[in-house]
Amino acid sequence: MPSSRSLQLAGSILAGDALNLSNAIKIAEDAGSDIVSLDVSDGHFVPTISFGEEVVRRTCEVTKLPVEVHLMVSRPEDWVVRMEGCGHFRMLFHIEASRRAMGVVQAIDRQGVKPGIALNPETPVIAVEPLLPYVDNVCLMGIAPGFSGQRLLDYTFNRVADLRGRIDRMRSSATITVDGGVKADNASRLVEAGADILVVSSGIYGHANPAESLNEIRRIVGGESNKES
Ligand code: DX5
Repeated sequence: MPSSRSLQLAGSILAGDALNLSNAIKIAEDAGSDIVSLDVSDGHFVPTISFGEEVVRRTCEVTKLPVEVHLMVSRPEDWVVRMEGCGHFRMLFHIEASRRAMGVVQAIDRQGVKPGIALNPETPVIAVEPLLPYVDNVCLMGIAPGFSGQRLLDYTFNRVADLRGRIDRMRSSATITVDGGVKADNASRLVEAGADILVVSSGIYGHANPAESLNEIRRIVGGESNKES
């Protein structure tokens, strides 16, 4: 990967024990995550229901890591309001969920939170282009959103390269995240295509040694921060 960019790994607690979220957070921290990612789903935009604002607030209180919220909800503008002040540093919402994405970006920004846009696998990358000057991050889903443990869709690599090209041509500072299906056997290609941040969930909780799992990804990608397992 180009030396000007360094890989960050975001540990998503979605595949952790829903009845023991404190431990799930600790596992993500101990594994060496750079970010804790909270997937908030509403049972409407995606079929699953995960966490609400209290889990976001408490997670931000107990972890020293930066917390990112990934809204997988309809009417994200309502969720931006209800999550105000929870302590997250970045909030992503799906472009497919809002007809006035720029207004939602501005509402997040007004709270002092970094705005990001997530794109479902079938949403053309060009849809986010008008927003690139205003967002901190664009997250390309590598799977259908809502469920951990799926296989990365093959065409994700081309989508990452497409987005990287648009971001670089526009001289935008937005980072690129890939979320879903990230494992040691595809991380390197994703970063070569232009990803800055990889979200990992079953690669942490489905692994006997979560720290070794994240270390392996860092080693393969060639990132500098190999942490002790
Ligand atoms: C799914 C979530 C992902 C998911 C990733 O919509 O956004 O963060 O938990 O899980 P894995 O890493 O198992 O694909």
